[in-house]
Amino acid sequence: MNTQVLLKSRPNGMVEIDNFEIKQSEIPALQEGQILIRNHFISIDPAIRGWMNAGRTYIDGIEIGGVIRSFAVGEVIDSLNTNFSIGDWVEGLLGAQAYAIAEEKGLKKISIGEFSPSWYLGILGMPAMTAYFGLLAKGNPQEGETILISGAAGVVGTTVGQIAKIKGCRVVGIAGGQQKCQYLLGLGFDAVIDYKQENVHERLQEICPQGVHVFFDNVGGEILDTGLLHLARGARVVICGAISQYNDMANIRGIKNYMKLVTARANLTGIIVFDFQSQYPQAMNEISQWIREDKIKYKEQIINGLENFPKALQMLFSGENFGKLVIKV
Ligand SMILES: NC(=O)c1ccc[n+]([C@@H]2O[C@H](COP(=O)([O-])OP(=O)(O)OC[C@H]3O[C@@H](n4cnc5c(N)ncnc54)[C@H](OP(=O)(O)O)[C@@H]3O)[C@@H](O)[C@H]2O)c1
Repeated sequence: MNTQVLLKSRPNGMVEIDNFEIKQSEIPALQEGQILIRNHFISIDPAIRGWMNAGRTYIDGIEIGGVIRSFAVGEVIDSLNTNFSIGDWVEGLLGAQAYAIAEEKGLKKISIGEFSPSWYLGILGMPAMTAYFGLLAKGNPQEGETILISGAAGVVGTTVGQIAKIKGCRVVGIAGGQQKCQYLLGLGFDAVIDYKQENVHERLQEICPQGVHVFFDNVGGEILDTGLLHLARGARVVICGAISQYNDMANIRGIKNYMKLVTARANLTGIIVFDFQSQYPQAMNEISQWIREDKIKYKEQIINGLENFPKALQMLFSGENFGKLVIKV
């Protein structure tokens, strides 16, 4: 029998427990070319909230009654595909379920031993690829420049910050609460702003009097608008996400301070990580090496049980998560 987390209804505002249904169902027989995977870890990502809306963005929305789309890692337990054998470990969009039947397309074999399999959902997976390519390919940071990161204590934010430090930049993070801010300083961030306690605009005036060269924004809304006021000449703004807006996309708060892009001769650009898929192996190698050299540190928060999936997703929006959120099946 399979346990699956299904989309029961579309959220209207904040994602609610009632929007999900946890269902038991029989696992169908494999067809030629298919692979049966026992999922061990399921990733909780902000993007899932967007996929719960109707319609297509860069990817189709999840159908009502469909399995919640999410990244997962698991072990092949049966295979009618010659490229995958029982005992292989794989990562992909396997869904929020205990067992997944997958085709080869989009499935990546992972090596087990040196790193925990769950790391392929975070520091060796999609969020880290977002940080790597968002910063390096879109932000083009130069040694000595100041990098501002919102949503800095999350898996994307901490990875961006640590890579920026490796590249010789000065790194400023914005996060909610003292505990997260202290953690960022421990990772080597040069300065932090607790947006829940401090005035972000005033703190940026103090910390970045010469302005910000790369603004990596995960949050959107007011924090994005405030950050724009502090751009240095020739700055690059990378729009990675807008977590402050995901629960009310119909009334999204736009930017008011966009004329700063003109006076600063700045560039504002978006990133979708999937565009860089062909370059993932090179980025994975480099990040693995930085982990070995202790230049990148990683924190996970593991929650037991698929039945806790809905609550875990809510935690992303309250900031209760601390470290990459993963469900252990
Ligand atoms: N473009 C792409 O291809 C791509 C790929 C992956 C991820 N992303 C985006 O990257 C961003 C970070 O993802 P992640 O996986 O690293 O998540 P995360 O940062 O680990 O978790 C979300 C964090 O967002 C913060 N937050 C929630 N509501 C907020 C609000 N109203 N205002 C300010 N901060 C708020 C909370 O931190 P605090 O406690 O500090 O408030 C929370 O811990 C998201 O926007 C995500 O959608 C984009």
